[in-house]
Amino acid sequence: MTGHHAGAGAPPPAPELFTWEFATDPYPAYAWLREHAPVHRTRLPSGVDAWLVTRYADARRALADPRLSKNPVHHAEQPHAKGKTGIPGERGAELMTHLLNIDPPDHTRLRRLVSQAFTPRRVAEFAPRVQELTDGLIDAFAAKGEADLIHDFAFPLPIYAICDLLGVPREDQDDFRDWAGMMIRHGGGPRGGVARSVKKMRGYLAELIHRKRDDPGDDLISGLIRASDHGEHLTENEAAAMAFILLFAGFETTVNLVGNGTYALLRNPDQRARLQRSLDAGESALLATGIEELLRHDGPVEMATWRYATEPVELGGQSVAVGDPVLVVLAAADRDPERFADPDRLDLSRGDNKHLGYGHGIHYCLGAPLARLEGQTALRTLLTRLPDLRLAADPSDLRWRGGLIMRGLRTLPVQFTAV
Ligand code: HEM
Repeated sequence: MTGHHAGAGAPPPAPELFTWEFATDPYPAYAWLREHAPVHRTRLPSGVDAWLVTRYADARRALADPRLSKNPVHHAEQPHAKGKTGIPGERGAELMTHLLNIDPPDHTRLRRLVSQAFTPRRVAEFAPRVQELTDGLIDAFAAKGEADLIHDFAFPLPIYAICDLLGVPREDQDDFRDWAGMMIRHGGGPRGGVARSVKKMRGYLAELIHRKRDDPGDDLISGLIRASDHGEHLTENEAAAMAFILLFAGFETTVNLVGNGTYALLRNPDQRARLQRSLDAGESALLATGIEELLRHDGPVEMATWRYATEPVELGGQSVAVGDPVLVVLAAADRDPERFADPDRLDLSRGDNKHLGYGHGIHYCLGAPLARLEGQTALRTLLTRLPDLRLAADPSDLRWRGGLIMRGLRTLPVQFTAV
């Protein structure tokens, strides 16, 4: 391992953050920060000052530190910087009560309730439907010999999957697709379209919850309504906020897992060939470790959602003051050479891969089993059905979405032998 303090002579100049080059490939800048300014105060494009945490050990510590609150009321710059958790249009009070915006004991109560409904078993039983959705999407473009894997595949898959799981009737799912499309295209921006889409989605969910209360089914929303803890239930507002956060947290992340993951395989032909051989042999072990490695290597969530210091916190030799926002850069921590040997290399069979792609601590991703199911199904089916899949663009022409929290491609043009 090279360690943090390798290299002699004057350090190269500090990199510029949040430029177009940075959005395309942030990893050299993160390497510099890990080495020279591991807890770094910077001005974000929004004008807000925040600390970026880039080393693995500091990142893990920060994610589990109860003095770093998720509740935006602790942000020193309130009220100007309200609703900055990375979730677009997230300003309505009803939606503020979701898991990523609250601390214990409220978080403990809500997470316990949702965990009763969103169980690993429910996800496992959903596997045939995810396969059916995946095949249906591939069927729609397989005869053309070309596709944009973001638009035609990675984008619709999770939105239909989560709608099905929640119990949104099929005939209404295209509305969700449009609203989600608006959110992903203009994510985080103060665009009117995003606010309108969130409002429509919220209105729809409120009505659906109301209907499911009278006429429950076998779906997750009915499960949320049924869940109880010491006689306590979710209120309708809490259930709506929960359904919204499941949709939001489970959507763009999965788009990016499928998009970034497929792209990484296409850029690493030796690893892709290995995976393809193992799938042809009917094995699943390399796919399982491979998905985790793709999450570590170029994961969907570049930075964890916002945290705010409620007490002074010493972190990586810096003093974080009360009210300061802290952004834990998962993408930087997961390439820390102090933790991962040869961290820039993609190695689908990497062992001891405790990456932070799903976060860490009490806010650890609730949807990880569903994300794994979707990611594994999507990549296995793509590589098996379209074995000569290849990139149909120069990598330097590909555009990355420039958001703060998420990392993902706008388009992923591919070609393959039509089937
Ligand atoms: C939380 C990543 C898919 C639901 C998180 C966090 C990360 C993450 C990093 C923690 C954020 C923080 O601490 O600030 C991912 C990745 C995914 C994925 C990389 C896909 C590959 C999903 C899916 C769902 C989901 C499919 C649900 C359908 C959630 C929820 C939380 C969460 C509800 C909040 C948990 C809490 O605060 O207790 N996710 N996620 N995620 N994720 Fe995921």
